[in-house]
Amino acid sequence: MSTEIPKNIVLVGFMGCGKSTIARRLGKMLGYEVLDVDTEIESKAGMPITRIFETRGEDYFRQLEAAVLQEIGARPGRFIIATGGGVIGRKRNRGLVKQLGYVVWLQVSRETILERTRRSRDRPLLETDDPAARIDALLAERAPLYREVADLELDTSELDAEEIACGILESARYHFTSGA
Ligand code: S3P
Repeated sequence: MSTEIPKNIVLVGFMGCGKSTIARRLGKMLGYEVLDVDTEIESKAGMPITRIFETRGEDYFRQLEAAVLQEIGARPGRFIIATGGGVIGRKRNRGLVKQLGYVVWLQVSRETILERTRRSRDRPLLETDDPAARIDALLAERAPLYREVADLELDTSELDAEEIACGILESARYHFTSGA
């Protein structure tokens, strides 16, 4: 069986679910370049995400997100792509995500999200008096949208990074060899 994955692997999921960490690990395992959509947005805008939200608002950020997804889709080669947690909010972006490759939804509990996002100041959507309530509302809104784009849903709560990455590779290989 070929060890190659014939397409990009795209990681989606809520803030703090481990997309960037798992993307780096998959990149090493497969020898694919890793692309982080948030990082690409920041270089396109020439400013950090918090500043984009502050000065131009979320709508502008989502436009940049769509533009970056489109640009990545046009690049030759295969990539591991870590997306931002809200990428699935817009129908257009869901379409672009699906076109990019094999989409994996990294599921994580709200407690883990709270724990991982508590100390960081770089997530403008959680800069509220009640981040837990915001997380609950966003999770409820987004879960069906992650599900809509995902080829694989992976509950990461009992797994370490190595197990998550190996599980993704195994499923992706099965997906492409079985023609699922
Ligand atoms: C967002 C998630 C962030 C970033 C932006 C908006 C969201 O990415 O794109 O702050 O809407 O959930 P991470 O999921 O990598 O934190």
